[in-house]
Amino acid sequence: MRINNHIITIFGGTGDLSFRKLLPAFYNLHAGNKLPESFHIVVVGRQDLTTETYRQRLRPWLKEHSRCPIDDESMELYLSYVSYFKMTFTEDEGYPQLKTYFNSLDENARLLYYFAVSPSFFETITYKLKNHGLTHNAKVIIEKPFGNDLVSAIKINQTLTDILGDDNIYRIDHYIAKEMVQNIYTIRFGNALFKEIWGRKAIKSIQISANETVGVESRGTFYEATGALKDMFPNHLLQILSIVTMEEPKSFDAHHIHHQQEKVLEHLDIKNVQEDVIYGQYTQAINSKSYRDEANVSPDSNVETFVALKLAIDNDRWRDVPIYVRTGKRMHKRSTEVVLEFKEELNQTSNLIIIKIQPDEGVYVRFNIKKPGQKNDTETVFMDFCQSCNYENRLNTPEAYERLLHAAMLEDHTLFASFKQVELSWKLAEKIINGTHDNPLYFYEAFTSGPKESYDLLRNDNNDWIDEEVLGELSS
Ligand code: BG6
Repeated sequence: MRINNHIITIFGGTGDLSFRKLLPAFYNLHAGNKLPESFHIVVVGRQDLTTETYRQRLRPWLKEHSRCPIDDESMELYLSYVSYFKMTFTEDEGYPQLKTYFNSLDENARLLYYFAVSPSFFETITYKLKNHGLTHNAKVIIEKPFGNDLVSAIKINQTLTDILGDDNIYRIDHYIAKEMVQNIYTIRFGNALFKEIWGRKAIKSIQISANETVGVESRGTFYEATGALKDMFPNHLLQILSIVTMEEPKSFDAHHIHHQQEKVLEHLDIKNVQEDVIYGQYTQAINSKSYRDEANVSPDSNVETFVALKLAIDNDRWRDVPIYVRTGKRMHKRSTEVVLEFKEELNQTSNLIIIKIQPDEGVYVRFNIKKPGQKNDTETVFMDFCQSCNYENRLNTPEAYERLLHAAMLEDHTLFASFKQVELSWKLAEKIINGTHDNPLYFYEAFTSGPKESYDLLRNDNNDWIDEEVLGELSS
């Protein structure tokens, strides 16, 4: 499909996200001939840079973070489309010149704004764009978090919708665009083998884990105001959860997918916030600081870097199936996965389906067979499909941000969140936050599997987190 000419303007273009993800992603799209004939990337920032000094700064990042090969020639060609525009976006002054600049680049181009800034600036920038006649033929991509709570999310959304229209707002959640998250639709709905057993009759529990080995790095200030729950739960984790548990949409377009995700989120709840939410914070380990010792973190901070929760969906498919969710920084292993544990048949080990999202991508299935020979002894075996190993040209698969930027240029909302999803997710997150002020904070040593209390959460229900160690023990 042909894409209209675009001027892409990045607010917050001197931040980490732009260097690490956005500009390399546009480079990859450029290298793959996926950009329109006329396109320009305008990076807006307050710093005293020129286009030349900005390009200079960008070069090493492109070298390091581009997926597609990059040599001097392709680098310079791409950079010739990137310019730096110095202005303070909270002040009116620069906007008239910005308009003149756009007109000099391409008067008829579609304007695509990328707000890679704190949500507290989303409305200010949008008002200023409108007041200076820069919202006609325009659309906007906004980064998570969508506001800092439900009230601010509603307010931001109202302003942006009034000025730009809902169809022109693209709410990014990069987890939606991950290869294996998109694959969940096919795994679930494209296989009779899985489709018919996907529900309470056969499934004992669902577990969703997003464990990271990284700490808070240079984001202490942000993290102190956010914490693991707000950072990962109302967005990434609930996106995965709703795709795993929703009913099959009539068709796989944005409208029908969003509708089914929203329906399941409406029935998602937490029964007992005091008992079903476990907070943790990492302490030091050899060569690694405790959270409280990180830069810009208070030495007596009680902000959680780990959270585990038990949720429930009150509908016919999932009633009485516990859904366990956890995420943590400085965990022993980076791994994002979904585990479906099935009810045990008499004296047998339970079956499992594990959807491995990252860093390994694949599907693991565990089942029981009879051992060869005359006796009826059984054995537990598994099939482990590695998607990332099996596709030779794995490097040719677009990364999440590339997919998202391309989709926004094509005006395809499938990979973006609807506002209703955002709203329902904030509602649940706020119920949890407001109800757990007195929940204890458990400390865990960095590079371990989180506080032991998160294991107790499952053991109280006769369940267990299915970690590698558990898999090893159960299969041997
Ligand atoms: C971001 C969070 O949205 O997602 C980060 O703010 C987190 O704290 C990151 O590290 C994880 O993304 P990925 O793609 O590396 O799993």
